[in-house]
Amino acid sequence: MAWGPAPESAATAEAWLEQHGRAFGHYLNGAWTVPGGGERFDTINPATSAVLARVAQGSKDDVNAAVAAARAAQPGWWALGGHARARWLYALARQIQRNSRLLAVVESLDNGKPIRESRDIDIPLVARHFYHHAGWAQLMETELPGYGPVGVVGQIIPWNFPLLMLAWKIAPALAMGNTVVLKPAEFTSLTALLFADCCHAIGLPPGVVNIITGDGKTGAALVDHPDVDKIAFTGSTDVGRIIRTATAGSGKKLSLELGGKSPFIVFDDADLDSVVEGVVDAIWFNQGQVCCAGSRILVQESVAARLVEKLRARMETLRVGSPLDKAVDIGAIVAPVQLDIIKGLVQTGIDEGATCWQPSWSLPKDGLFYPPTLFTDVTPAATIAQVEIFGPVVVLMTFRTPAESVEIANNTRYGLAASVWSENLNTALDIAPQLKAGTVWVNCTNMFDAASGFGGYRESGFGREGGREGLFEYVKSARREDGKPGRREESLRGPIGPEAISREIATGASRPRDDKNPALPSSRPPVLLAIDRTAKLYIGGRQTRPDSGYSNPVLDAAGNSVGEAGRGNRKDIRNAVEAAHKAESGWAGASAHTRAQILYYIAENLSVRQAEFGNRLTALTACPPDAAQAEVRGAIERAFAYAAWADKYDGRVHATPFRNVTLAMNEPIGVMGLVAPGEAPLLGFLSLVLPAVAMGNCVIAIPSERWPLLATDLYQVFDTSDVPGGVINIITGSRRELAPVLAAHDDVDSVWFYGPREEAAEVEKLSAGNMKRTHTCWHPVDWLDRREAEGEEFLREATQVKNIWVPYGA
Ligand code: NAI
Ligand code: MG
Repeated sequence: MAWGPAPESAATAEAWLEQHGRAFGHYLNGAWTVPGGGERFDTINPATSAVLARVAQGSKDDVNAAVAAARAAQPGWWALGGHARARWLYALARQIQRNSRLLAVVESLDNGKPIRESRDIDIPLVARHFYHHAGWAQLMETELPGYGPVGVVGQIIPWNFPLLMLAWKIAPALAMGNTVVLKPAEFTSLTALLFADCCHAIGLPPGVVNIITGDGKTGAALVDHPDVDKIAFTGSTDVGRIIRTATAGSGKKLSLELGGKSPFIVFDDADLDSVVEGVVDAIWFNQGQVCCAGSRILVQESVAARLVEKLRARMETLRVGSPLDKAVDIGAIVAPVQLDIIKGLVQTGIDEGATCWQPSWSLPKDGLFYPPTLFTDVTPAATIAQVEIFGPVVVLMTFRTPAESVEIANNTRYGLAASVWSENLNTALDIAPQLKAGTVWVNCTNMFDAASGFGGYRESGFGREGGREGLFEYVKSARREDGKPGRREESLRGPIGPEAISREIATGASRPRDDKNPALPSSRPPVLLAIDRTAKLYIGGRQTRPDSGYSNPVLDAAGNSVGEAGRGNRKDIRNAVEAAHKAESGWAGASAHTRAQILYYIAENLSVRQAEFGNRLTALTACPPDAAQAEVRGAIERAFAYAAWADKYDGRVHATPFRNVTLAMNEPIGVMGLVAPGEAPLLGFLSLVLPAVAMGNCVIAIPSERWPLLATDLYQVFDTSDVPGGVINIITGSRRELAPVLAAHDDVDSVWFYGPREEAAEVEKLSAGNMKRTHTCWHPVDWLDRREAEGEEFLREATQVKNIWVPYGA
């Protein structure tokens, strides 16, 4: 039986284009700029190569005007309050629904995606996003107390889901009280411009949403603009890396949703007919131009031949053709350049020896089309198994054991999504936590919803969009104000004059430390100890001499040498990273209760040495004894706090509107580098180490350069508290030397840096190497203030959310 064409009418869309004279300006401050002067470019229909309209190339001046409008509008938008913002978001959702067919047709015309997808998936999800976030606007005050908007947000989106990515960006930003400047991709500006019309039609206050069109240069101008408080980007990893580097040290908040090479894992007990339909959705949805496309099929060897046969049979029945044809499965590739990339990579696959299979039917003659393509005989290291193709091309590889499936699945620099197919619940739920990916679909694929977070692990970026977790990308804590002037170094205790120091020191007799019995009774009279040891490094649970063979003198506040600490170098960091990786699976796999237990031991062992640590603080920093005691007490309490949190910072179950539950699990990030603040050498240090290890990470910590001995004194505390070797590694030495090594290290997954802004900028720049997450802070922190120095903000930085979609319910 042959299908006749069943085209959707383009008449209303054409009329809308005509209404704008097929030439667009930018939508700034609630009005259209005149599309007269300045550079412009064509936007085409990739199915016919016909020009749809002329679009403006945003200049620096345009970006300046847009940011100024957003800035001016922001305080008023926030001041409206949650309920009023909720009403505006609700109005946007309604307006989108009223115009849903027009939006779907314009999307399919401009992007080339089948109308069935734009009509049934993209646009309904856009409306859903605005509804869902209208709710968050309403609930912000009660559900996110203490948080306020970031300010003006610059948003840059790709061409594969033009309006959906706009919704993912704009809805949460507006809900949280921000105003936005959004730049759509140059191939697909039209639905963003139609959305501007929607904003206009409902009378959204001017400046709240600004749409500026243009290419990468326009995007770069937005990224570089000094008055933008946050950049949210979706696109290629290469551009993500450029943006990470460009924003380093700027203090701009950043979220990046980048590429992927997502595994699609099929076990021998999977329902192969469902699997075949899953593959269709995974890689032939949107022509495979999907960041989370299941582009690597990993199938258990025993069923591989059968699956390949079934897939080929199904591929013969897929229909490629006009995106407006309602019976078409695969539409057009977005642009000639993308088609060339796909063709080039397919050729590389053939040249490297893989077997390429395409259906027997031929493609439409005109327009940018590419057939569904299946590669077999692919080795895991092949180019087509590693590189994101972003087209309807899937590679198939085999595995024998579940362990091997995980190994191949994780053998990629990306970590955006994965799907697992098995009729055995135990198998599926055993594999899901082992996959390094922000989303795992069990017996389903490419499911999205506003209630669930979406975003990457590793080089797929950081930050989440959607769900409660996504809101935090668009807020900042009122307590942790950025950009406070002044350095933190001396903030807790200022330098005290030499007289004061000798007065304090005169009151105590020197006594050698009892290294064999760290659990000194707390009743021991306070004494000031002469520090006469050379502290080593702490790697893999052992005290280790620094590779350099050198130590640095440690001076007290008066400038007297009171001891030495090892001068760690690049090699020591490498060894520590290795030790941390060895400990990683054991520690992450330990129960939260076990980790809590160990943190309680740390508190306990610290408390029996309370007096000693206090004295050491006073001797080194010349702070008054009661301040020193307050810091030690604060450290003990912090250990208690994170012991408490260890089994309480748990995940959620998101209410996504399908037959499933979505488990939002807080997972550890992995191996973290922590650069502790210069001040509060005990409490500041532990305030970083404890949340990280409580959440199951292994750390390499660089203590205060000036007063490292408070951290090195903890070696025995950690040993006696049963902290497994390699979970906490400590490298003393020069922060300037060591922090960049951590930031550049490819096997470090995240770096926290507390120190001067210039050095923080360097750390952020270097992190772009493997796109590790960073958390930097150069403003003063009151480490004794629990609200500021402890709690969920640290825990959030110590975890990444994995959303696991599990079939559930009738
Ligand atoms: P791209 O990353 O260059 O473009 C994404 C957006 O970033 C566009 O709006 C673009 O104008 C903007 N942009 C480009 N350079 C910029 C810069 N220096 N500063 C600020 N903004 C900039 O992606 P492109 O070139 O369209 O596609 C290339 C490849 O990227 C594709 O073949 C695909 O592999 C991948 N890609 C991945 C996407 C994803 O969702 N993960 C989406 C689009 C593309
Ligand atoms: Mg186009």
